[in-house]
Amino acid sequence: MERKIGGKALNWADLGFEYVRTDWRFSARWRDGQWGEGKLLDCEIMPLHEGSPALHYAQECFEGMKAQSARDGRVLLFRPELNSERLKQAAGRLLMPEVPTDLFMRGVETAVRENREWIPPFGSGASLYVRPMLIGVGDNLGLRPAKEFEFRVFVSPVGPYYKQAGLAPIALAVSEMDRAAPHGTGNFKVGANYAGGLLATRKAQQQGASEALYLDAAERRYIDEAGSANILVVLRDGSLVTPRSAAILPSVTRRSLMQLAADRLGMPTTERPIDLRAEFDDFVEMGACGTAAVVSPIARIWFDGAWRAVNRKELGDDIKGSGVVGSVMQELYDLLTGIQQGEIAEDYGWIHEVKL
Ligand code: PLP
Ligand code: COI
Repeated sequence: MERKIGGKALNWADLGFEYVRTDWRFSARWRDGQWGEGKLLDCEIMPLHEGSPALHYAQECFEGMKAQSARDGRVLLFRPELNSERLKQAAGRLLMPEVPTDLFMRGVETAVRENREWIPPFGSGASLYVRPMLIGVGDNLGLRPAKEFEFRVFVSPVGPYYKQAGLAPIALAVSEMDRAAPHGTGNFKVGANYAGGLLATRKAQQQGASEALYLDAAERRYIDEAGSANILVVLRDGSLVTPRSAAILPSVTRRSLMQLAADRLGMPTTERPIDLRAEFDDFVEMGACGTAAVVSPIARIWFDGAWRAVNRKELGDDIKGSGVVGSVMQELYDLLTGIQQGEIAEDYGWIHEVKL
């Protein structure tokens, strides 16, 4: 089969993080109190009722995962049961029916398998992004939950989320806007959190950053997370810390990296509030992590009216971010991507093969 994007032959190395139409998507409907079997659709356009609660009141949640090719041609998912669990949590928060784990897995595996021609090969630097979503549909006007729901899974081959391929340092700008309220929906993967972040991201990018960094909304003191990734920090004492906050997404990547740092790198690891201003001078390395972001070292941050280099004690005020990638972020990146692509053995049970 010839794979084309906008009339041009697909080149894996050219892929960024953009939607690429693939051949099949999985769709299941919840009606009259139960889930249907689900089916494959070839059309990417969804006919939606104009009153759908997903459109007006953001009754919508989603997930993000990657299927990657191993050297031997196997196709691997990374901890998909955690994505299934997180979608259930979000569904409960938004008064939507949970997608049972077996339906979630069937939807994901079917979408990957039926689009096998679109799975980037081992070593290409690209992967097949999987986007499961759950939306409230059907006629409605008042603020109440939908009566019908659609669970859909589509896939798209993707390259790096931030522009440069591989492990290249990025910059973040602390936003003057908040992402999530302390008792809001910040810890759920719901679309509503992201709409409010579009302007913050735009502003951060206008300042020359890759994206926004959010502080806690209550005190604007502690690091919450970036627009699409959690944060990791290596401190001068050699420990790895990550923010503890009720308002951030419980990242699958972050949980995995914390475990790898403890088990494979022997680092002391802690999840605790991190006071950006008070602790910044002790930051030796900083990284943004997530399915799309993988592990992206952060070279500099904008806050309180100035650019500041991470680890300026060692590196000087290199506010351009010289491209220096710290050794811990490099090791974590190598471990994570090695495990995800089947190159590094693991006995956690994190890898799930999709039989083609
Ligand atoms: N934080 C936000 C706001 C995200 O959108 C994502 C992406 O999914 C993450 C963190 C990272 O989560 P995960 O590692 O599960 O992809
Ligand atoms: C992911 O990393 O999977 C996400 O959902 C982040 C998104 C903003 C692309």
